[in-house]
Amino acid sequence: MSRSLLSIEELGTAGVQRILDLADTMAEVNRRPNPKVPALRGKTVCSVFFEDSTRTRLSFETAAKRLSADTMTFAVSQSSLNKGESLRDTIETIAAMGVDAFVIRHKSTGAPWLVDGWTNAAVINAGDGWHSHPTQGLLDTYTVRTALNRPDGFDGLRVAIVGDIKHSRVARSTTAAFTALGADVTWVAPRTLLPPVVHEHVENDIDAVLDRDGGVDVLYMLRMQQERMNEALVPNLREYTARFGLTPERAARLAPHTLVMHPGPMNRGVEVAVDPAELPGALITQQVTNGIAVRMAVLFDLLSAESPEQSLTEGPTT
Ligand code: CP
Repeated sequence: MSRSLLSIEELGTAGVQRILDLADTMAEVNRRPNPKVPALRGKTVCSVFFEDSTRTRLSFETAAKRLSADTMTFAVSQSSLNKGESLRDTIETIAAMGVDAFVIRHKSTGAPWLVDGWTNAAVINAGDGWHSHPTQGLLDTYTVRTALNRPDGFDGLRVAIVGDIKHSRVARSTTAAFTALGADVTWVAPRTLLPPVVHEHVENDIDAVLDRDGGVDVLYMLRMQQERMNEALVPNLREYTARFGLTPERAARLAPHTLVMHPGPMNRGVEVAVDPAELPGALITQQVTNGIAVRMAVLFDLLSAESPEQSLTEGPTT
């Protein structure tokens, strides 16, 4: 049975630290003139996305190719699912072609755990419903670790995650990853956008959080996930922006050391009402760039039997 990456909680602190250390090695590969190594030659990685994605799908496919794995992309809309084939039969059919890892995104919470029970291939959760998106948590913590040069953890780091926490798998996994590394994470949201789970630090007033002594080290803005809302959870988007958005007034009051993050895709003018390119602490582009190194680290961790020293040297890739 292969190992899988289904949640940050299952990975644990040691696992998070191991992947982030490995991501440093992968980032070094990505800085080479030819950013490709033979580490996963002979392995096949299959992307199965039942929900839309730009960053996660493309960065996993790029990561697999940089490690010389073969890639398959399952196109849901052109598949025999449309003829009534079940998810289980679909996974077992693809697995029979010889797949070493499935990267799966699904609208249903828990779907990657089901898939993990149906195949001997490794399964990587690329987002399940409102529940979990572990590689987002890993790339977010890796981005802060590199920006602050803090490879040993985040003790004392103050993180504020702002917005639609209720519908956000990113909020859950990114909170878990920062917390595993020792950071203090505050959720900031209107009561209607909080999930029915206990979290130690919750605020309803973003200004109180930004204005407290020392401000915050990381301001993480979440996307308003209107596609997941079937009732009016905020009076209107203009009022949401006024109460919780990163407006020009709030941007001007940020402490100079505050890092600003967003998982993308961004609703410009809603949760972020300034041009992020004009924020000195914005890490949004670095998050996307680091997604490749982190996903290379995840694939290598799950699929390689060799050490990085053995297999990340430059060499023939085909
Ligand atoms: N952050 C994130 O998961 O983006 P995509 O939906 O584009 O993959």
